[in-house]
Amino acid sequence: MCYAIPGKVVGIRGRNVILEYFSETRNAVNEFFELSEGDYVYAQGGLIVEQIDRIEAERLLSSWKNKFMELKRIDSELSKPPAALEELLDRSLNKEDLIQMLKSNDDRIFAMANALRSARKQNSCCVHGIIEFSNYCINDCKYCGIRKSNRKLVRCRMSKTQLFRNVEYAIKKLGFKAIVLQSGEDEHYTDEMFSEIVEEIAKRFNALIFISCGTRTESFYKKAYDAGARGVLLRFETSNEDLYNSMHPAGSKGSLKERLHMIKYAKKLGYICATGFMVGLPGQTIEDIANDIIMTRNLDADMYSIGPFIPHAETPLRNSKQQNADLWYRTIATARIAHPDANILVTTALETIDKDGLRKGMMCGANSFMINATPDEFAGNYDIYPRDVNLIKSINSKIEVIKSIGRAPTDISI
Ligand code: 5AD
Repeated sequence: MCYAIPGKVVGIRGRNVILEYFSETRNAVNEFFELSEGDYVYAQGGLIVEQIDRIEAERLLSSWKNKFMELKRIDSELSKPPAALEELLDRSLNKEDLIQMLKSNDDRIFAMANALRSARKQNSCCVHGIIEFSNYCINDCKYCGIRKSNRKLVRCRMSKTQLFRNVEYAIKKLGFKAIVLQSGEDEHYTDEMFSEIVEEIAKRFNALIFISCGTRTESFYKKAYDAGARGVLLRFETSNEDLYNSMHPAGSKGSLKERLHMIKYAKKLGYICATGFMVGLPGQTIEDIANDIIMTRNLDADMYSIGPFIPHAETPLRNSKQQNADLWYRTIATARIAHPDANILVTTALETIDKDGLRKGMMCGANSFMINATPDEFAGNYDIYPRDVNLIKSINSKIEVIKSIGRAPTDISI
């Protein structure tokens, strides 16, 4: 798998570059390459991550051309707007509108959200591979299977060498151009050690490096940025402070304020920020979800990361009710209709509660997704929520799903 199409540089203004994919254009930022018009590159999340030889790029593009047109055709067939809802687009929505939409039984909002996604983001789709490198965590979040009080979990962390090997495998063999280094909040990796790892990865591979390691400290995020990381995945989990406090008991590090501060700080440093919340936490109301959508937007999230809560047997929330996936779909559709230009992810947890979750999520407003790229022997222990593991099979089947609904790996632009 190489899930990316080369883009042609058709305009340069300082760091800002215009890329063309079969006559569609996207904006991208160039930090790392000496580019001229006519050059070819791979971009991920609005960042240029690799320059490609022209002859090779032209060969790749001619092999993509018919396929790309076919994918466009499929997407436009599948994303016709339901006429009756078009008036929704004419005004900006307030919190009450969001609550009504989240509560309504009107299934036309899914088609509306999908039509908006197609109109604003075309059929672009980025895929990010998550590598879970440590399941040690100093925190005790009540919902999370890797919380420190879960004594049944076999803890493991990758050595530097193992991590490089797995990143190399994900990039070179599995074909990812964006990887997410994810862990519990594990202070074994000091700021220096972690930034050295990032630096080495940035030096050796052409990929967008996302980090997802909890709240940590400003210095952690600054050093990792300087070392070459350009994306942060850090959810605020819920905008309701009381609910947040009840989910993060005393002894857990990081208040909601600190989380929000770190998300804003990362944004200020220049990171591409993926943030969001969980849907279906016990005690969460529909109004909370509307506020969560609004908070995601107010944080100026480059990507919305919204996942369903899944009760885990080794946590205090083991007996909580599992919401069915419908509330999640409705949340994604509402977020898309409220914020038509957002980049919205289908997250890995969804498929635990709905085997057809990726397709359905992408059909109700989402435009990108994350895949687990952790080798099976590690993934079994990275037990945030229950799920199946089988890396290659699961990646291939997801790419097939994405093709079947007409999505193409042109960059999503930020
Ligand atoms: N169900 C769903 N998502 C969970 N997360 C943690 N525990 C659960 C759970 N039981 C999510 C949190 C966290 C991310 C890494 O995983 O949102 O930020």
